[in-house]
Amino acid sequence: MKGVEVNVQRVSRSYGDFKALDDVSVTIKKGEFFSLLGPSGCGKTTLLRIIAGFDFPDSGSVEFDSKNILPLPPDKRQSNTVFQTYALFPHLTVYENIAFPLRLRHVDKETIDKKVLEYVRLVQLEDHIYKKPSMLSGGQKQRVAIARALINEPSVLLLDEPLSALDAKLRQNLLIELDQIHDKVGITFIYVTHDQSEALSVSDRIAVMNKGKVLQIGTPYEIYEAPSTRFVAQFIGETNSFPCTILSCEPYEEEYLMRVQVPALNGEVSVTDYKAQPVGTQMDFTVRPEKVRISSNPPRSTVKELNTFKGIVEEPVYSGFQSKFYVKLDNESSTLVKVFKQHTAFLEDGPDIEWKDTVYVSWTASDGYLVKDTAR
Ligand SMILES: Nc1ncnc2c1ncn2[C@@H]1O[C@H](COP(=O)(O)OP(=O)(O)OP(=O)(O)O)[C@@H](O)[C@H]1O
Ligand SMILES: [Mg+2]
Repeated sequence: MKGVEVNVQRVSRSYGDFKALDDVSVTIKKGEFFSLLGPSGCGKTTLLRIIAGFDFPDSGSVEFDSKNILPLPPDKRQSNTVFQTYALFPHLTVYENIAFPLRLRHVDKETIDKKVLEYVRLVQLEDHIYKKPSMLSGGQKQRVAIARALINEPSVLLLDEPLSALDAKLRQNLLIELDQIHDKVGITFIYVTHDQSEALSVSDRIAVMNKGKVLQIGTPYEIYEAPSTRFVAQFIGETNSFPCTILSCEPYEEEYLMRVQVPALNGEVSVTDYKAQPVGTQMDFTVRPEKVRISSNPPRSTVKELNTFKGIVEEPVYSGFQSKFYVKLDNESSTLVKVFKQHTAFLEDGPDIEWKDTVYVSWTASDGYLVKDTAR
């Protein structure tokens, strides 16, 4: 098996006057684990169906390794799809379900036996070969569907929320397995999900979509650490995000250090960015909750660019490996700043911070970032 490069250029698709896809371009590299991530209704399935050949764009092109595939029917496209619902044949055993695509092609019995066992092993279903789908768990059914989709050795595997019917723990395990399967078969995977943690944990790259548009394409690290718009910052992970205005901007090491006015914090904040912004620009200031320190005493750091605000703990939420705090600022804004504090070793944790305690929240200029003041 080998993957292909999937090149989608300027694809649009409307249903009536509703634009499900609006000028979408993505290039997915050969062998990449690529995710399409976005909220319900943003156009992920529509794009996947167009790549698979179950739907057609009104305009734009789709190529596999520079070859136009739009005229080809689904079964001539070197791609195969795993759907959210398993779509298995209920009257056939696991073996026969996986063998089905080979039987269609009249492959000889010996080869079928060899290949089915190979793929049964790949998805770890050795002990369940003669079961019918009704005797399998959800996770096992989805493994059958994955094996069946791979047995014809496609160059691209399209996966449309394949794990969404499973419970959280199983989803996590199957996701890791899927990643290992991807490593073994080496073909291009295009994985559709609305779950940002799924996308962040397995993808080589992610395209974040909203309202029929691709907003940002990047590695999980880039998408999380340097979101380009307010929507991406808020959709990926949790964040504190406030409108701001640039007050000053000066070169700072390899970047720029800016002072910004943040009405929601009733104050000014220092923030660094690799891009200079003109004074007066309206943007969003963002800082992730895990980057914010919370302490009972004012932080002792002498870092000049430390941002510190005093407040009162409004709502401590214990959640096992971490605590979440909502700190109400001790100024006219009364804004809540979200802080996540990881629980480490007992001695390092310091005194407990409790409800109604007066605390300081702080972060350095490089922990925050600026994003475009746009919802899309
Ligand atoms: N055949 C159709 N006729 C009319 N509208 C459609 C059709 N297919 C999709 N749509 C609309 O296009 C938009 C995008 O749908 P799509 O299924 O691609 O979303 P999605 O991102 O996969 O969402 P979800 O996460 O809920 O699966 C939706 O608003 C949907 O209602
Ligand atoms: Mg969908």
